[in-house]
Amino acid sequence: MEGQHTTYNKQQALSGLRRFDNISLQALNTMGLDVVAKLFYEINSLNDIEQLIKDNVFKNNKTLILGGGSNILFQNEYFDGAIIHSNLKGITINPEDTLESQNLTIVRCMSGEVWKDFVNFTIENNLYGLENLVDIPGSVGASPVQNIGAYGVEVKDCIDCVYAIDLTNGNEVTFKNEDCHFSYRDSIFKREENKKYFIVAIDFKLKANADLNIEYGNIKDYIEKNNITPTLSGVANAIKTIRADKLPEVGVVGSVGSFFQNPIVDTEIFEKLKQTYPEMPSYPNDKGVKIPAGWLIDKAGWKGYKEKHVGVWDKQALVLVHYGGGKPEEILDLMRKIQHSVKEKFGIEIKPEVNIV
Ligand code: EPU
Repeated sequence: MEGQHTTYNKQQALSGLRRFDNISLQALNTMGLDVVAKLFYEINSLNDIEQLIKDNVFKNNKTLILGGGSNILFQNEYFDGAIIHSNLKGITINPEDTLESQNLTIVRCMSGEVWKDFVNFTIENNLYGLENLVDIPGSVGASPVQNIGAYGVEVKDCIDCVYAIDLTNGNEVTFKNEDCHFSYRDSIFKREENKKYFIVAIDFKLKANADLNIEYGNIKDYIEKNNITPTLSGVANAIKTIRADKLPEVGVVGSVGSFFQNPIVDTEIFEKLKQTYPEMPSYPNDKGVKIPAGWLIDKAGWKGYKEKHVGVWDKQALVLVHYGGGKPEEILDLMRKIQHSVKEKFGIEIKPEVNIV
């Protein structure tokens, strides 16, 4: 690690391509780890991308596109490469008349917008579709990458297309929904060979007519118990409360939301486990049976566990937390211990949902 560390400050971002050297990413990863990046480029305009592609320093370094840093875990304290961060802003309703809208309203959102601000904007404009995804931390540009999801909805349900630029040659590429190969917390943008695509903007297809999805277990219960009228803002507010109750507050306690994916096991394996654990929650799908990793970790006794600077959230065992002052290795060590313990107890391998870089 060399040189002085610069603190990232949005206000420093003027127009034009901005490069910061040896910058602390502490404010740019919700886990709150004090990781330093060798180079950091902030993209404020399409012109910046053109300049970036021509930049020799950029060309000679490994690159990482970073959105809100809410689903990323740096495994080292120094990132020896170039981070590219979108600060492209703007939301437009019905950007082009030519878009095939199938009675849906198309809303174009630039990748640097904050996801929860965008969702609030759609709610204020009476557009249905993203309300169950309210308050998910991160940027709009990152939302298709891992096909963010919550409470029975995935962002893929509302994506019309994704506009990207290939950073190896500057070509503009449009991915229609089906080109993205969305599945549970996955898309083509996660593949190594597609990490060259810088997402510029996304067209979302939203409904102007009421169409709420409140079937997911605890939303339905919460709405019924609290006599909430299922309106767009009523449902969004209920979800905000449910989330705030279960998940650590971003910026206060470090986390990346769900740390692990919910594993999908073969039906025969599930049937055997069910004999020992009849109360085990399960969601059958076309690939087998999905079992909540949070339940497995909880049952293995980790909920509320604390060790130096890190631990397991006491209200949701799927969330690993960093209380500050810790190192990436402490989180990774805890991750491995939990994986080992769940494997020993249930014979199930749980994989990180977070991107480890
Ligand atoms: N459970 C426990 N103990 C725990 C946590 C969960 O017993 O400590 C049980 C619950 O009682 C419930 C089941 O596990 O029966 C599932 O829990 P929950 O509905 O809270 O959802 P989840 O599977 O833990 C997933 C997503 C979350 C999303 C919620 C709500 C993944 C990896 N996680 O969590 O996404 O908010 O559903 O839809 O799919 C994220 O991706 O960062 C994230 C927070």
